[in-house]
Amino acid sequence: MKIIEMQNICKAFGDTKANKDVCFDLQKGEIHALLGENGAGKTTLMNILYGLYCSDAGQISIKGSHRSIRSPRDSIALGIGMVHQHFMLIPQLTVTQNIFLGLQKETGFHLDLPKLEKTVAEYIRRFGFHINPKSPVWKLPVGLQQKVEILKALIRNVDILILDEPTAVLTPHESEELFSSLKEMTKEGYSIILITHKMYEVMEHSDRVTVMRQGEVVGTVQTKETDKEQLAAMMIGKKLEKPDARQNISLQDTILSVEHLSVKNNNKLPAIRDLSFHVSGGEILGIAGVDGNGQVELGEALTSLRKAESGSVIRIKDQDLTNADPGTLIDIKVSNITEDRQRKGLVMDFTAADNLILGSQRKKRFSKGVFINRPLVNSHAQELMESYDIRPRKIGIPAKSFSGGNQQKIILAREMTREPELIIALQPTRGLDIGATNFVWNQLMLKRNEGKAVLLISTDLDEIYRLSDRIAVIYEGRFTGIVSPDTSAEEIGLMMSGVENASTSEQGGTA
Ligand SMILES: Nc1ncnc2c1ncn2[C@@H]1O[C@H](COP(=O)(O)OP(=O)(O)OP(=O)(O)O)[C@@H](O)[C@H]1O
Ligand SMILES: [Mg+2]
Repeated sequence: MKIIEMQNICKAFGDTKANKDVCFDLQKGEIHALLGENGAGKTTLMNILYGLYCSDAGQISIKGSHRSIRSPRDSIALGIGMVHQHFMLIPQLTVTQNIFLGLQKETGFHLDLPKLEKTVAEYIRRFGFHINPKSPVWKLPVGLQQKVEILKALIRNVDILILDEPTAVLTPHESEELFSSLKEMTKEGYSIILITHKMYEVMEHSDRVTVMRQGEVVGTVQTKETDKEQLAAMMIGKKLEKPDARQNISLQDTILSVEHLSVKNNNKLPAIRDLSFHVSGGEILGIAGVDGNGQVELGEALTSLRKAESGSVIRIKDQDLTNADPGTLIDIKVSNITEDRQRKGLVMDFTAADNLILGSQRKKRFSKGVFINRPLVNSHAQELMESYDIRPRKIGIPAKSFSGGNQQKIILAREMTREPELIIALQPTRGLDIGATNFVWNQLMLKRNEGKAVLLISTDLDEIYRLSDRIAVIYEGRFTGIVSPDTSAEEIGLMMSGVENASTSEQGGTA
Protein backbone atom coordinates (compact mmCIF):
# COMPACT_ATOMS: atom_id res chain seq x y z
CA MET A 1 0.00 0.00 0.00
CA LYS A 2 1.24 3.47 -0.87
CA ILE A 3 1.16 5.34 2.39
CA ILE A 4 2.60 8.50 0.84
CA GLU A 5 2.49 9.66 -2.73
CA MET A 6 4.12 12.89 -3.84
CA GLN A 7 3.45 13.95 -7.42
CA ASN A 8 5.17 16.54 -9.58
CA ILE A 9 6.52 18.53 -6.66
CA CYS A 10 8.27 21.76 -7.64
CA LYS A 11 10.10 24.17 -5.39
CA ALA A 12 12.34 27.09 -6.25
CA PHE A 13 14.39 29.37 -4.02
CA GLY A 14 14.91 32.47 -6.10
CA ASP A 15 16.21 31.03 -9.36
CA THR A 16 17.53 27.82 -7.75
CA LYS A 17 15.18 25.02 -8.69
CA ALA A 18 15.56 22.73 -5.68
CA ASN A 19 12.81 20.31 -6.75
CA LYS A 20 11.66 19.85 -10.34
CA ASP A 21 8.57 17.70 -10.96
CA VAL A 22 9.58 15.26 -8.27
CA CYS A 23 7.53 12.08 -7.86
CA PHE A 24 8.13 9.94 -4.81
CA ASP A 25 6.16 7.30 -2.95
CA LEU A 26 6.49 5.36 0.26
CA GLN A 27 5.09 1.88 0.89
CA LYS A 28 3.81 0.86 4.28
CA GLY A 29 6.44 -0.94 6.31
CA GLU A 30 9.42 -0.17 4.05
CA ILE A 31 12.68 1.64 4.57
CA HIS A 32 13.02 3.85 1.52
CA ALA A 33 16.43 5.41 1.03
CA LEU A 34 16.78 8.83 -0.60
CA LEU A 35 20.17 9.25 -2.18
CA GLY A 36 21.79 12.11 -4.06
CA GLU A 37 24.69 14.52 -4.24
CA ASN A 38 24.95 17.52 -1.96
CA GLY A 39 22.36 20.02 -3.04
CA ALA A 40 20.32 17.46 -5.01
CA GLY A 41 17.14 18.54 -3.21
CA LYS A 42 16.58 15.73 -0.72
CA THR A 43 16.12 17.85 2.39
CA THR A 44 13.93 20.27 0.47
CA LEU A 45 11.61 17.48 -0.67
CA MET A 46 11.29 16.16 2.85
CA ASN A 47 10.79 19.62 4.31
CA ILE A 48 7.85 19.98 1.92
CA LEU A 49 6.40 16.67 3.06
CA TYR A 50 6.84 17.75 6.67
CA GLY A 51 5.18 21.11 6.06
CA LEU A 52 8.25 23.27 6.70
CA TYR A 53 8.25 24.53 3.12
CA CYS A 54 5.30 25.04 0.87
CA SER A 55 5.75 23.54 -2.60
CA ASP A 56 5.22 25.77 -5.65
CA ALA A 57 3.35 23.00 -7.45
CA GLY A 58 2.45 19.35 -7.07
CA GLN A 59 0.23 17.12 -4.97
CA ILE A 60 0.62 15.01 -1.89
CA SER A 61 -1.58 12.06 -0.95
CA ILE A 62 -1.34 10.46 2.47
CA LYS A 63 -2.96 7.07 3.03
CA GLY A 64 -4.98 7.46 -0.13
CA SER A 65 -6.34 10.98 0.11
CA HIS A 66 -5.09 14.31 -1.17
CA ARG A 67 -3.79 16.52 1.59
CA SER A 68 -2.50 20.00 1.89
CA ILE A 69 0.30 20.22 4.42
CA ARG A 70 0.92 23.76 5.57
CA SER A 71 2.91 23.21 8.74
CA PRO A 72 4.52 20.44 10.78
CA ARG A 73 1.36 20.46 12.84
CA ASP A 74 -0.55 19.27 9.75
CA SER A 75 1.99 16.58 8.91
CA ILE A 76 2.20 15.29 12.49
CA ALA A 77 -1.60 15.03 12.55
CA LEU A 78 -1.28 12.92 9.39
CA GLY A 79 1.22 10.66 11.12
CA ILE A 80 4.48 12.06 9.72
CA GLY A 81 7.48 12.79 11.95
CA MET A 82 10.87 14.16 10.91
CA VAL A 83 14.34 14.06 12.45
CA HIS A 84 16.45 16.82 10.97
CA GLN A 85 19.92 16.80 9.49
CA HIS A 86 21.10 19.00 12.33
CA PHE A 87 19.87 18.31 15.83
CA MET A 88 17.39 20.73 17.26
CA LEU A 89 17.73 19.87 20.93
CA ILE A 90 18.37 22.29 23.77
CA PRO A 91 21.44 20.87 25.55
CA GLN A 92 20.68 22.28 29.01
CA LEU A 93 17.25 20.67 29.22
CA THR A 94 16.55 17.05 30.09
CA VAL A 95 15.40 14.42 27.62
CA THR A 96 11.79 14.75 28.76
CA GLN A 97 11.89 18.54 28.86
CA ASN A 98 13.10 18.62 25.27
CA ILE A 99 10.22 16.40 24.19
CA PHE A 100 7.80 18.33 26.37
CA LEU A 101 8.80 21.69 24.97
CA GLY A 102 7.74 20.90 21.44
CA LEU A 103 4.52 19.23 22.50
CA GLN A 104 3.53 22.21 24.56
CA LYS A 105 4.16 24.53 21.66
CA GLU A 106 2.05 22.35 19.38
CA THR A 107 -0.89 21.55 21.62
CA GLY A 108 -0.95 24.78 23.58
CA PHE A 109 -1.98 22.78 26.62
CA HIS A 110 -0.11 22.75 29.82
CA LEU A 111 1.43 19.32 30.10
CA ASP A 112 2.21 17.45 33.24
CA LEU A 113 5.99 16.82 33.36
CA PRO A 114 6.07 13.78 35.69
CA LYS A 115 3.31 12.14 33.64
CA LEU A 116 5.21 12.82 30.44
CA GLU A 117 8.36 11.42 32.00
CA LYS A 118 6.49 8.15 32.48
CA THR A 119 5.30 8.13 28.89
CA VAL A 120 8.82 8.84 27.67
CA ALA A 121 10.10 5.97 29.80
CA GLU A 122 7.51 3.65 28.24
CA TYR A 123 8.58 4.56 24.73
CA ILE A 124 12.22 4.11 25.68
CA ARG A 125 11.43 0.61 26.91
CA ARG A 126 9.30 -0.25 23.92
CA PHE A 127 12.00 0.61 21.41
CA GLY A 128 14.89 -0.64 23.50
CA PHE A 129 16.61 2.78 23.64
CA HIS A 130 18.82 3.00 26.68
CA ILE A 131 18.26 6.55 27.83
CA ASN A 132 17.45 8.10 31.17
CA PRO A 133 14.46 10.43 30.62
CA LYS A 134 15.76 12.74 33.34
CA SER A 135 19.28 13.14 31.97
CA PRO A 136 20.25 16.55 30.59
CA VAL A 137 20.79 16.26 26.85
CA TRP A 138 24.34 17.62 26.89
CA LYS A 139 25.42 14.67 28.99
CA LEU A 140 24.35 12.17 26.34
CA PRO A 141 26.64 10.89 23.60
CA VAL A 142 25.47 11.93 20.11
CA GLY A 143 24.12 8.45 19.43
CA LEU A 144 21.63 8.88 22.24
CA GLN A 145 20.85 12.48 21.34
CA GLN A 146 19.83 11.15 17.96
CA LYS A 147 17.48 8.74 19.69
CA VAL A 148 15.96 11.59 21.69
CA GLU A 149 15.16 13.26 18.37
CA ILE A 150 13.52 10.05 17.20
CA LEU A 151 11.57 9.77 20.46
CA LYS A 152 10.40 13.33 19.99
CA ALA A 153 8.79 12.23 16.74
CA LEU A 154 7.48 8.87 17.96
CA ILE A 155 5.76 10.30 20.98
CA ARG A 156 3.55 12.31 18.68
CA ASN A 157 2.03 9.04 17.55
CA VAL A 158 3.37 9.16 14.04
CA ASP A 159 3.76 6.03 11.92
CA ILE A 160 5.92 7.56 9.20
CA LEU A 161 9.42 8.72 10.04
CA ILE A 162 11.69 10.88 7.92
CA LEU A 163 15.34 10.63 8.98
CA ASP A 164 17.69 13.15 7.36
CA GLU A 165 21.23 11.73 7.53
CA PRO A 166 20.66 10.11 10.92
CA THR A 167 24.01 8.34 11.08
CA ALA A 168 26.24 11.21 9.91
CA VAL A 169 27.40 11.79 13.49
CA LEU A 170 27.12 8.25 14.83
CA THR A 171 29.84 5.68 15.41
CA PRO A 172 29.57 2.45 13.42
CA HIS A 173 28.30 0.70 16.53
CA GLU A 174 25.67 3.37 17.24
CA SER A 175 24.55 3.20 13.61
CA GLU A 176 24.08 -0.55 13.81
CA GLU A 177 21.99 -0.10 16.94
CA LEU A 178 19.88 2.53 15.24
CA PHE A 179 19.26 0.32 12.23
CA SER A 180 18.21 -2.61 14.35
CA SER A 181 15.69 -0.33 16.12
CA LEU A 182 14.44 0.89 12.73
CA LYS A 183 14.08 -2.67 11.47
CA GLU A 184 11.98 -3.50 14.55
CA MET A 185 9.85 -0.44 13.91
CA THR A 186 9.07 -1.45 10.33
CA LYS A 187 7.89 -4.82 11.65
CA GLU A 188 5.47 -2.92 13.87
CA GLY A 189 4.11 -1.14 10.81
CA TYR A 190 6.22 2.03 10.77
CA SER A 191 7.36 3.31 7.39
CA ILE A 192 10.68 5.09 7.10
CA ILE A 193 12.33 7.49 4.68
CA LEU A 194 16.09 7.51 5.13
CA ILE A 195 18.34 10.18 3.65
CA THR A 196 21.95 9.07 3.70
CA HIS A 197 25.23 9.42 1.83
CA LYS A 198 26.52 6.10 3.08
CA MET A 199 26.16 3.59 0.32
CA TYR A 200 26.57 0.51 2.44
CA GLU A 201 23.71 1.63 4.67
CA VAL A 202 21.51 1.89 1.63
CA MET A 203 22.57 -1.54 0.38
CA GLU A 204 22.34 -3.14 3.80
CA HIS A 205 19.22 -1.61 5.29
CA SER A 206 16.83 -0.24 2.69
CA ASP A 207 14.06 -1.92 0.70
CA ARG A 208 13.98 0.62 -2.12
CA VAL A 209 16.14 3.55 -3.20
CA THR A 210 15.22 6.78 -4.93
CA VAL A 211 18.11 8.72 -6.44
CA MET A 212 17.95 12.48 -6.98
CA ARG A 213 20.22 14.67 -9.06
CA GLN A 214 20.03 18.45 -9.44
CA GLY A 215 16.46 18.69 -8.19
CA GLU A 216 15.08 15.78 -10.20
CA VAL A 217 14.40 12.12 -9.51
CA VAL A 218 16.71 9.96 -11.61
CA GLY A 219 14.90 6.77 -10.66
CA THR A 220 13.57 4.47 -7.99
CA VAL A 221 14.91 0.92 -7.75
CA GLN A 222 14.57 -2.13 -5.53
CA THR A 223 17.69 -2.41 -3.39
CA LYS A 224 17.97 -6.13 -4.11
CA GLU A 225 18.11 -5.42 -7.82
CA THR A 226 20.86 -2.81 -7.81
CA ASP A 227 24.45 -2.35 -6.68
CA LYS A 228 26.68 0.44 -5.41
CA GLU A 229 28.17 1.16 -8.82
CA GLN A 230 24.79 1.60 -10.48
CA LEU A 231 23.59 3.87 -7.68
CA ALA A 232 26.76 5.97 -7.82
CA ALA A 233 26.41 6.34 -11.57
CA MET A 234 22.77 7.40 -11.17
CA MET A 235 23.80 9.94 -8.53
CA ILE A 236 26.51 11.73 -10.42
CA GLY A 237 25.45 10.94 -13.96
CA LYS A 238 28.83 9.40 -14.77
CA LYS A 239 31.34 6.96 -13.40
CA LEU A 240 33.25 7.98 -10.30
CA GLU A 241 36.86 8.96 -10.73
CA LYS A 242 39.43 7.09 -8.73
CA PRO A 243 40.99 9.06 -5.85
CA ASP A 244 44.46 10.45 -6.52
CA ALA A 245 47.32 8.16 -5.74
CA ARG A 246 49.78 8.63 -2.96
CA GLN A 247 53.12 9.76 -4.35
CA ASN A 248 56.34 8.59 -2.82
CA ILE A 249 57.91 11.67 -1.37
CA SER A 250 60.60 11.96 1.23
CA LEU A 251 59.60 13.10 4.67
CA GLN A 252 60.34 16.77 5.40
CA ASP A 253 61.04 18.49 8.71
CA THR A 254 58.72 18.17 11.63
CA ILE A 255 56.01 20.81 11.36
CA LEU A 256 53.79 20.10 14.33
CA SER A 257 55.09 18.74 17.55
CA VAL A 258 53.00 18.18 20.60
CA GLU A 259 54.58 17.35 23.93
CA HIS A 260 52.79 16.19 27.02
CA LEU A 261 49.55 17.89 26.06
CA SER A 262 46.67 17.74 28.52
CA VAL A 263 43.27 19.28 27.79
CA LYS A 264 40.00 19.29 29.68
CA ASN A 265 36.52 18.82 28.29
CA ASN A 266 33.48 21.01 28.91
CA ASN A 267 32.83 19.25 32.19
CA LYS A 268 36.36 20.10 33.39
CA LEU A 269 37.38 16.46 33.19
CA PRO A 270 40.57 15.33 31.47
CA ALA A 271 39.92 14.80 27.75
CA ILE A 272 43.50 14.64 26.48
CA ARG A 273 46.02 13.11 28.86
CA ASP A 274 49.72 13.78 28.47
CA LEU A 275 49.72 13.21 24.74
CA SER A 276 52.89 13.49 22.64
CA PHE A 277 53.27 13.14 18.88
CA HIS A 278 54.58 14.91 15.81
CA VAL A 279 53.60 15.40 12.19
CA SER A 280 56.17 16.05 9.47
CA GLY A 281 55.83 17.76 6.13
CA GLY A 282 54.82 15.26 3.46
CA GLU A 283 52.78 13.00 5.65
CA ILE A 284 49.24 12.52 6.81
CA LEU A 285 48.94 11.39 10.40
CA GLY A 286 45.51 9.88 10.88
CA ILE A 287 43.99 9.77 14.33
CA ALA A 288 41.40 7.03 14.50
CA GLY A 289 39.06 6.33 17.38
CA VAL A 290 35.49 6.09 18.53
CA ASP A 291 33.79 9.47 18.89
CA GLY A 292 34.13 11.06 22.30
CA ASN A 293 37.66 9.93 23.11
CA GLY A 294 39.13 13.42 23.06
CA GLN A 295 39.24 14.05 19.30
CA VAL A 296 37.24 17.28 19.42
CA GLU A 297 39.21 18.59 22.40
CA LEU A 298 42.50 17.76 20.69
CA GLY A 299 41.45 19.53 17.51
CA GLU A 300 40.31 22.55 19.50
CA ALA A 301 43.47 22.74 21.60
CA LEU A 302 45.64 22.64 18.48
CA THR A 303 43.68 25.49 16.95
CA SER A 304 43.47 27.55 20.14
CA LEU A 305 39.74 27.12 20.48
CA ARG A 306 40.32 25.40 23.79
CA LYS A 307 42.92 26.01 26.47
CA ALA A 308 45.79 23.60 26.83
CA GLU A 309 46.51 22.90 30.50
CA SER A 310 49.91 23.85 31.87
CA GLY A 311 52.91 21.65 31.26
CA SER A 312 52.00 21.12 27.65
CA VAL A 313 53.72 22.40 24.56
CA ILE A 314 52.45 22.79 21.02
CA ARG A 315 55.14 23.78 18.60
CA ILE A 316 54.70 24.60 14.97
CA LYS A 317 57.98 25.03 13.16
CA ASP A 318 59.90 25.81 16.36
CA GLN A 319 57.46 28.48 17.43
CA ASP A 320 55.67 27.79 20.69
CA LEU A 321 52.01 28.14 19.91
CA THR A 322 50.45 26.78 23.03
CA ASN A 323 47.28 28.83 23.49
CA ALA A 324 48.23 31.29 20.74
CA ASP A 325 45.41 33.42 19.42
CA PRO A 326 43.62 32.17 16.29
CA GLY A 327 44.89 35.14 14.25
CA THR A 328 48.49 34.08 14.87
CA LEU A 329 47.67 30.57 13.74
CA ILE A 330 46.32 31.88 10.48
CA ASP A 331 49.41 34.05 10.05
CA ILE A 332 51.70 31.09 10.38
CA LYS A 333 49.60 29.12 7.97
CA VAL A 334 47.64 26.63 9.99
CA SER A 335 44.35 25.67 8.43
CA ASN A 336 41.47 24.18 10.30
CA ILE A 337 38.76 22.16 8.64
CA THR A 338 36.18 21.43 11.25
CA GLU A 339 33.22 19.08 11.28
CA ASP A 340 31.00 21.49 13.16
CA ARG A 341 30.19 23.83 10.31
CA GLN A 342 27.14 25.34 11.93
CA ARG A 343 28.89 26.56 15.03
CA LYS A 344 32.60 26.75 14.36
CA GLY A 345 33.24 26.79 10.63
CA LEU A 346 30.85 29.38 9.30
CA VAL A 347 28.88 32.43 10.29
CA MET A 348 25.52 31.23 9.02
CA ASP A 349 24.04 34.68 8.43
CA PHE A 350 27.07 36.00 6.52
CA THR A 351 27.19 35.65 2.76
CA ALA A 352 29.22 32.97 1.04
CA ALA A 353 31.68 35.68 -0.10
CA ASP A 354 32.27 36.88 3.46
CA ASN A 355 32.56 33.37 4.80
CA LEU A 356 35.16 32.65 2.17
CA ILE A 357 37.48 35.31 3.61
CA LEU A 358 36.65 34.76 7.27
CA GLY A 359 39.81 35.15 9.32
CA SER A 360 41.62 36.86 6.43
CA GLN A 361 39.47 39.98 6.25
CA ARG A 362 42.21 42.10 7.80
CA LYS A 363 44.71 40.87 5.23
CA LYS A 364 46.07 43.57 2.94
CA ARG A 365 44.74 41.68 -0.03
CA PHE A 366 41.13 42.09 1.00
CA SER A 367 41.14 45.52 2.56
CA LYS A 368 41.24 49.08 1.28
CA GLY A 369 42.32 51.11 4.27
CA VAL A 370 39.81 50.24 6.95
CA PHE A 371 37.28 49.11 4.39
CA ILE A 372 36.80 45.79 2.74
CA ASN A 373 37.77 45.70 -0.92
CA ARG A 374 34.41 44.48 -2.11
CA PRO A 375 35.17 43.84 -5.79
CA LEU A 376 38.21 41.78 -4.86
CA VAL A 377 36.39 39.81 -2.18
CA ASN A 378 33.65 39.08 -4.67
CA SER A 379 35.91 37.96 -7.47
CA HIS A 380 37.87 35.84 -5.00
CA ALA A 381 34.57 34.22 -3.95
CA GLN A 382 33.52 33.64 -7.54
CA GLU A 383 36.81 31.91 -8.31
CA LEU A 384 36.62 29.65 -5.28
CA MET A 385 33.01 28.69 -5.96
CA GLU A 386 34.06 27.68 -9.42
CA SER A 387 37.12 25.66 -8.48
CA TYR A 388 35.51 23.94 -5.51
CA ASP A 389 32.22 23.44 -7.32
CA ILE A 390 30.16 25.11 -4.63
CA ARG A 391 26.52 25.09 -5.67
CA PRO A 392 24.61 27.23 -6.29
CA ARG A 393 27.25 29.69 -7.54
CA LYS A 394 25.84 32.60 -5.61
CA ILE A 395 28.33 34.59 -3.62
CA GLY A 396 25.71 36.91 -2.12
CA ILE A 397 23.42 34.45 -0.34
CA PRO A 398 23.93 33.55 3.32
CA ALA A 399 25.78 30.38 4.32
CA LYS A 400 22.60 28.96 5.81
CA SER A 401 20.97 28.78 2.37
CA PHE A 402 23.49 26.22 1.15
CA SER A 403 22.96 22.50 1.54
CA GLY A 404 25.01 20.82 4.26
CA GLY A 405 27.60 19.48 1.87
CA ASN A 406 28.08 22.76 0.09
CA GLN A 407 28.58 24.52 3.43
CA GLN A 408 31.43 22.13 4.04
CA LYS A 409 32.92 22.97 0.65
CA ILE A 410 32.91 26.67 1.58
CA ILE A 411 35.02 25.92 4.64
CA LEU A 412 37.33 23.71 2.65
CA ALA A 413 37.80 26.30 -0.09
CA ARG A 414 38.63 29.01 2.43
CA GLU A 415 41.03 26.93 4.46
CA MET A 416 42.88 25.45 1.47
CA THR A 417 43.51 28.82 -0.13
CA ARG A 418 45.39 30.05 2.94
CA GLU A 419 48.24 27.95 1.51
CA PRO A 420 48.69 26.15 4.81
CA GLU A 421 51.85 24.48 6.05
CA LEU A 422 49.77 22.45 8.47
CA ILE A 423 46.20 21.32 7.99
CA ILE A 424 44.17 20.13 10.92
CA ALA A 425 41.16 18.27 9.57
CA LEU A 426 38.52 17.07 11.97
CA GLN A 427 35.88 14.84 10.33
CA PRO A 428 36.39 16.71 7.04
CA THR A 429 33.93 14.64 5.00
CA ARG A 430 31.08 14.21 7.45
CA GLY A 431 27.83 14.64 5.55
CA LEU A 432 29.50 14.89 2.14
CA ASP A 433 28.37 12.91 -0.90
CA ILE A 434 30.75 10.52 -2.64
CA GLY A 435 31.90 13.02 -5.23
CA ALA A 436 32.58 15.74 -2.67
CA THR A 437 34.28 13.26 -0.35
CA ASN A 438 36.65 12.23 -3.13
CA PHE A 439 37.33 15.87 -3.78
CA VAL A 440 38.26 16.56 -0.16
CA TRP A 441 40.44 13.45 -0.03
CA ASN A 442 42.23 14.53 -3.19
CA GLN A 443 42.83 18.00 -1.77
CA LEU A 444 44.36 16.60 1.41
CA MET A 445 46.50 14.16 -0.57
CA LEU A 446 47.60 16.98 -2.85
CA LYS A 447 48.79 19.04 0.12
CA ARG A 448 50.64 16.04 1.49
CA ASN A 449 52.27 15.42 -1.88
CA GLU A 450 53.34 19.08 -1.91
CA GLY A 451 55.19 18.45 1.35
CA LYS A 452 52.68 19.96 3.77
CA ALA A 453 51.74 18.32 7.07
CA VAL A 454 48.23 16.98 7.55
CA LEU A 455 46.67 15.89 10.81
CA LEU A 456 43.48 14.00 10.04
CA ILE A 457 41.18 13.24 12.94
CA SER A 458 38.35 10.97 11.88
CA THR A 459 36.03 8.29 13.19
CA ASP A 460 35.65 6.95 9.64
CA LEU A 461 38.13 4.10 9.37
CA ASP A 462 37.81 3.95 5.61
CA GLU A 463 38.91 7.57 5.40
CA ILE A 464 41.79 6.95 7.82
CA TYR A 465 43.02 3.95 5.82
CA ARG A 466 42.83 5.69 2.47
CA LEU A 467 44.77 8.76 3.49
CA SER A 468 47.09 8.09 6.40
CA ASP A 469 50.83 7.45 6.25
CA ARG A 470 50.70 6.57 9.94
CA ILE A 471 47.66 5.78 12.06
CA ALA A 472 47.42 6.76 15.70
CA VAL A 473 44.53 5.33 17.68
CA ILE A 474 43.09 7.48 20.42
CA TYR A 475 41.29 6.04 23.41
CA GLU A 476 40.22 8.10 26.42
CA GLY A 477 42.60 10.89 25.54
CA ARG A 478 45.67 8.72 25.02
CA PHE A 479 47.13 6.85 22.09
CA THR A 480 46.85 3.10 22.34
CA GLY A 481 49.37 2.95 19.53
CA ILE A 482 50.75 4.47 16.35
CA VAL A 483 50.86 1.93 13.55
CA SER A 484 51.34 1.65 9.81
CA PRO A 485 48.29 1.61 7.49
CA ASP A 486 49.06 -2.05 6.76
CA THR A 487 47.73 -2.92 10.18
CA SER A 488 44.51 -4.95 10.01
CA ALA A 489 41.14 -3.42 10.86
CA GLU A 490 40.72 -6.00 13.61
CA GLU A 491 43.91 -4.86 15.26
CA ILE A 492 42.94 -1.20 14.95
CA GLY A 493 39.48 -2.08 16.29
CA LEU A 494 41.12 -3.58 19.37
CA MET A 495 43.19 -0.46 19.87
CA MET A 496 40.03 1.63 19.50
CA SER A 497 38.54 -0.29 22.40
CA GLY A 498 41.53 0.49 24.61
CA VAL A 499 43.94 -2.39 24.00
CA GLU A 500 47.50 -1.07 23.83
CA ASN A 501 49.52 -2.00 20.79
CA ALA A 502 52.82 -3.39 21.97
CA SER A 503 54.80 -2.75 18.79
CA THR A 504 54.61 1.05 18.92
CA SER A 505 56.08 3.84 20.95
CA GLU A 506 54.21 6.88 22.27
CA GLN A 507 56.35 9.19 20.19
CA GLY A 508 55.21 7.60 17.00
CA GLY A 509 58.72 7.19 15.73
CA THR A 510 57.94 3.76 14.36
CA ALA A 511 55.64 2.59 11.60
N1 LIG B 1 16.19 28.03 2.54
C1 LIG B 1 16.84 28.04 1.37
N2 LIG B 1 17.07 29.20 0.71
C2 LIG B 1 17.71 29.22 -0.46
N3 LIG B 1 18.15 28.10 -1.11
C3 LIG B 1 17.95 26.92 -0.52
C4 LIG B 1 17.30 26.82 0.76
N4 LIG B 1 17.24 25.51 1.11
C5 LIG B 1 17.85 24.83 0.11
N5 LIG B 1 18.28 25.67 -0.87
C6 LIG B 1 18.95 25.27 -2.12
O1 LIG B 1 18.21 24.22 -2.70
C7 LIG B 1 19.07 23.20 -3.23
C8 LIG B 1 18.75 21.86 -2.60
O2 LIG B 1 19.15 21.88 -1.25
P1 LIG B 1 18.88 20.68 -0.24
O3 LIG B 1 19.23 21.16 1.11
O4 LIG B 1 17.50 20.16 -0.47
O5 LIG B 1 19.95 19.59 -0.76
P2 LIG B 1 20.32 18.14 -0.15
O6 LIG B 1 20.06 17.15 -1.24
O7 LIG B 1 19.62 17.93 1.13
O8 LIG B 1 21.89 18.28 0.05
P3 LIG B 1 22.88 17.77 1.25
O9 LIG B 1 23.19 16.35 0.93
O10 LIG B 1 24.11 18.61 1.07
O11 LIG B 1 22.19 17.97 2.55
C9 LIG B 1 20.48 23.68 -2.97
O12 LIG B 1 20.96 24.28 -4.13
C10 LIG B 1 20.33 24.68 -1.85
O13 LIG B 1 21.34 25.65 -1.92
MG1 LIG C 1 20.27 17.75 3.11
